[in-house]
Amino acid sequence: GKGLFTYDPGFVSTAACESKITYIDGEKGILLYRGYPIEQLAEKSDYLEVCYLLLNGELPDPGQKRKFVDIVTNHTMVHEQISYFFRGFRRDAHPMAIMVACVGALSAFYHDSLDINDAHHREVCAYRLIAKMPTLAAMCYKYSIGQPFMYPRNDLGYAENFLRMMFGTPCEEYRPSPVLARAMDLIFLLHADHEQNASTSTVRLAGSSGANPFACIASGIAALWGPAHGGANEAVLAMLQEIGDESHIPEFIERAKDPDDPFRLMGFGHRVYHNFDPRAKVMKASCDQVLSELGIDNEPLLQIAKQLEQIALQDDYFVKRKLYPNVDFYSGIIMKAIGIPTSMFTVIFALSRTIGWISHWNEFHSSPNRIGRPRQLYTGEKQRDYPA
Ligand code: SDX
Repeated sequence: GKGLFTYDPGFVSTAACESKITYIDGEKGILLYRGYPIEQLAEKSDYLEVCYLLLNGELPDPGQKRKFVDIVTNHTMVHEQISYFFRGFRRDAHPMAIMVACVGALSAFYHDSLDINDAHHREVCAYRLIAKMPTLAAMCYKYSIGQPFMYPRNDLGYAENFLRMMFGTPCEEYRPSPVLARAMDLIFLLHADHEQNASTSTVRLAGSSGANPFACIASGIAALWGPAHGGANEAVLAMLQEIGDESHIPEFIERAKDPDDPFRLMGFGHRVYHNFDPRAKVMKASCDQVLSELGIDNEPLLQIAKQLEQIALQDDYFVKRKLYPNVDFYSGIIMKAIGIPTSMFTVIFALSRTIGWISHWNEFHSSPNRIGRPRQLYTGEKQRDYPA
């Protein structure tokens, strides 16, 4: 009966765990990683330092940071056998489909990481995942365009190395401009964690059964793929391209407001933020800066995005429901400026969020826990007899 359980579809008001990793105040638009405001980290820190922070709870001192970067860097290659997996996929496969498969497949390679009860093994697993995600992500892209895979270069920074594996070829050395590398790093950093979102909750639930960490992260990637979650960054760009011209914006706004039309403004709204998403603010500023440094600040999609935001934020429908741009609204425009194809956007979200997923998985296993097992309200047939 109804009285037995709390009925909370969509987990609007149910906390499923305790956590010390990330804090969000959705009314005030505050996001803290281990207590540090996202705006300060975006300005002063970098992605690998934030990885250390999320995983360990404190910022590293310079020695700890050097050691951490060193260890992660030493794990950047994937087993050569993994490259054969790619050949089983169609060249036009969505890179997220390949990522789900390849990350899940890592469990077949690192048997020591399957011992989830050992804190040291859990730590090594985190290093492996942080290190290998850019390599796998870039391999997805190279496979899709028929170019050879690029091995990682360990003398480069994390974002720089990723961009080189994406855009370099064996015949031409590629070195991204510091502007692009910094913009990429910032996108990684802003996506690093966001407490109990759908994919992180999926990782925690999968992890609660004792499943191996690579399988758990693969489940997170699968959950992230949907357009209501991480798939939104790809959908935002498709939407901006479909709008095509500022004169068409009102028409799309009307469609988004129509309850009979499934169309929603992609990159708008959030379950927790009923004020601005602080990441969107940082992202918008970075977008302006990157495009102006690249000399393409007349990018039509950026103009459409800004105009769309302005019109929506003055419209009663969006004001009443407190719908603001979220993290995905401006990230795609930056990634497009870097030269990253739309189909890779959600892969880059997955790459960035891996540290969040593994930090939550590790937190789950570091404290007393039990398997997650939601209940239901049964609304089906009463018991009945099989026809004679
Ligand atoms: C991410 O949870 C996280 O932390 C996620 C994330 C992370 O870092 O992990 O922040 C990343 O997933 C960002 C969200 C990306 N998704 C999108 O941009 C897709 C578009 N947005 C929505 O579909 C929606 O706003 C969600 C999924 C983000 C939130 O869904 P909720 O909390 O279930 O809210 P809802 O759908 O019930 O919306 C409430 C009202 C509804 O209207 P009414 O039925 O009350 O009249 O607002 C409307 C909705 O129809 N609404 C929108 C809208 N978003 C909500 N209307 C038009 N356009 C929109 N984008």
